[in-house]
Amino acid sequence: MKKVGVAILGLGVVGGGTYKILTDNKEYFKSTQGLDVTVESVLEKNVDRATALGISKEKVAGSIEEVVSNPNVDIVVEVIGGIEPAKTFVLKALMSGKTVVTSNKELFAKHWPELEREAKNMKVGLFYEASCVGGVPIIRTLTEGMQANKILSIKGIINGTTNYILTKMAKEGQSYEEALKEAQKLGYAEFNPTADVEGFDATYKLSILSSLAFNTKVSIENVHREGITGITKEDIACGKELGYTLKLLAIGKNTKNGIEVRVHPTFVADTNPLASVNDSFNAVHLVGDAVGEIMLYGRGAGALPTGSAIVSDVIFAAKHTDYYYSYFDNSEKGNKNTKFVSDFTSKYFIRLSVKDSAGVLSKIAGVFAKNNVSLSEVKQAAEKDGKVTVAIITHECLESAVNKSLEKIKAQGAVISVDGLIRLED
Ligand code: HSE
Repeated sequence: MKKVGVAILGLGVVGGGTYKILTDNKEYFKSTQGLDVTVESVLEKNVDRATALGISKEKVAGSIEEVVSNPNVDIVVEVIGGIEPAKTFVLKALMSGKTVVTSNKELFAKHWPELEREAKNMKVGLFYEASCVGGVPIIRTLTEGMQANKILSIKGIINGTTNYILTKMAKEGQSYEEALKEAQKLGYAEFNPTADVEGFDATYKLSILSSLAFNTKVSIENVHREGITGITKEDIACGKELGYTLKLLAIGKNTKNGIEVRVHPTFVADTNPLASVNDSFNAVHLVGDAVGEIMLYGRGAGALPTGSAIVSDVIFAAKHTDYYYSYFDNSEKGNKNTKFVSDFTSKYFIRLSVKDSAGVLSKIAGVFAKNNVSLSEVKQAAEKDGKVTVAIITHECLESAVNKSLEKIKAQGAVISVDGLIRLED
């Protein structure tokens, strides 16, 4: 039976989950995969954390050099996160001829070309299923399950923290601050939640996923990013009345005008399956030109779900020696001929506070019409303190046309304030 030695760098939540799967399912992997996988080494400053998991002190390495010079280690699993020291450790492992499996989306989104060059040089594997959407096998779906297709779009809820917050706001009428606090208490959101709530985490993942989906380098600079910190419970309630649910959506489209990649709060129709993805769950919807629509759903974070993706990569790496790398130009600059769309076409939800006086609505509609923004739905709430809330849903139009219309409308003085502007997907 083939013996496989694994080292785990970092015994945090994901490292602990990875260790548990590798040890609990050791016999199962022998019988189903023909592999005898053993954790030979761990790199963890907190030795007590290692011993609490049942790892003997002898297996706790004192340095990365000790890990990568261990001849029993074939595969190094990096689950430290962040850029340093993870990047240095991964490069040292690759340079020492070890295959690397990582869950590190930030490292991958920012330094993938450099890591891949080193892996290629050393003819070792570099696997990153766990970097995107945790336990949901989206990377292998894109690289091995969808090759027959030209992928037309990828849309997903790929950040569990923000999905939890938006679900609480929608279902319990909580404010953003209340929902964030609860997410922090439950360990979904970090003490500093910026990476999640400002959309950075989803941007890292979308740059990796859309590079694979569209076979060209999509860097994080190409991704339009907006987070959820400006979302109010009034936006959510108003959208709900019109049949829409608010999600932080990651959207990648391969259009005739180029590639469009964006992360932002989006209203999705309640009939769209993405609207039913609640709490900290994730989902990815793909459209391929041959297969049509497919959707993957599951847990995008957590010890065992992310550990599941890591261990699947370990098994895959142990069974394949013809490692594959990106087929597209995965240099830092990417393919200079790839076009990216910056002026998006979308439907929009607009919430305005207007003066309750005759002719206001027709003035607003007139400005939109002049700027080629066609309205699909207009809803007016009852008057309160001399003002009314007007919710408008547009047909597909250019974002620049919507912004220009709103500037004109504000300048006219009929509108007291523009309270919400959110893109919308059916
Ligand atoms: N912080 C991420 C999320 C999990 O909330 O989905 C790992 O990417």
